[in-house]
Amino acid sequence: MNIRNLVRPNIRDLKPYEPGKPIEEVQREFGLKAIVKMASNENPLGPSPLAVEAIKENLNRINLYPDGGGYYLKKRLACSLGVGEEQIILGNGSDEIIRMVVETFLNEGEEVVIAEPSFIIYQMAVKIANGKCQLVSLNNYQHDMESMARAIGERTKLIFVANPNNPTGTMVTKSEMESFLAKVPEGVITVFDEAYFEYIERDDFPETIKYIKEGAGIICLRTFSKIYGLAGLRIGYGISQPEIVTEMNRVRQPFNTNFLAQVAAMSALDDDEHLKKSREVNRAGKDFLYRELEKRKISYIPSEANFILIEVEDGARAASALLKKGIIVRDMSCYNLPNFIRVTIGTGEQNKKFIEELDGFS
Ligand SMILES: Cc1ncc(COP(=O)(O)O)c(C=O)c1O
Repeated sequence: MNIRNLVRPNIRDLKPYEPGKPIEEVQREFGLKAIVKMASNENPLGPSPLAVEAIKENLNRINLYPDGGGYYLKKRLACSLGVGEEQIILGNGSDEIIRMVVETFLNEGEEVVIAEPSFIIYQMAVKIANGKCQLVSLNNYQHDMESMARAIGERTKLIFVANPNNPTGTMVTKSEMESFLAKVPEGVITVFDEAYFEYIERDDFPETIKYIKEGAGIICLRTFSKIYGLAGLRIGYGISQPEIVTEMNRVRQPFNTNFLAQVAAMSALDDDEHLKKSREVNRAGKDFLYRELEKRKISYIPSEANFILIEVEDGARAASALLKKGIIVRDMSCYNLPNFIRVTIGTGEQNKKFIEELDGFS
């Protein structure tokens, strides 16, 4: 039986998503003990300790199915964001919510406007649904919101904006977002993916939730995978109009977020100390890396998130040389940026090791 022939044509040529290499894989492959992972924009301080406590306390309840709707977590989020519970949807990571948005709204052949390069999962979700991606190049590594507005056509249904953008770390400002939204016709939903929201320090970052409260037909995505340190639990959330959330709940798997993830997420939201420390470590690490790169005349893109896009001669070569030294970073050729690596900001010690090893090979 020729299995390839059975596959839907739009899936046949889909490239599977390539995540950052897991620590254990690098240990096995290179026989190394100490590995520093700076590849997947995880929190180098680890998970929120309050979240870990909550998991321990609830371990003996995992024989029960979770509350699929995540009532208490949604209530907690709604309260802190000042929206209704019916405006929130939980996902198995924000990745799953991206899929749910596409599954709910996109008909075959309809178009989705996406920046290039941006988070690869948007394009994958659209291709799986047999939609069409309208790719709009970044301008100087930033979203070109005017060109994105011009790319909206008769068949456009969705727009994805990662803010800040992955892999560049650049952001769309409040005024750029406002003039963009004024040009988006009714019937087109814009998704603002704010996975790195908690790292933002600038005052001109848009208050996306405020536009939702004012009735804008947009979706805001956030996650517990980044600053809260819960990437392994897979939990994220979307905020939108109640009508949009109601429709998305039709495609949601009944138990899409697990019980331990829900209780951990709730406790992580209360963990102000972990949040504060994580922001401080990120700020200090960013300053250190900027300084050290500048000393070496290595170019980088200033970032609003917890990672930095760094220009090297050959990203694949740099990533592979660092890997042999036990440092996992991301080669950016899959994002059409072959002379860049993307490096997650680590702890002070990890950042220092990264710079030392970079010196060693460049
Ligand atoms: C912009 C962006 N959105 C979404 C995600 C996915 O996050 P999650 O772990 O919540 O699925 C990532 C992860 O790297 C990301 O960079």
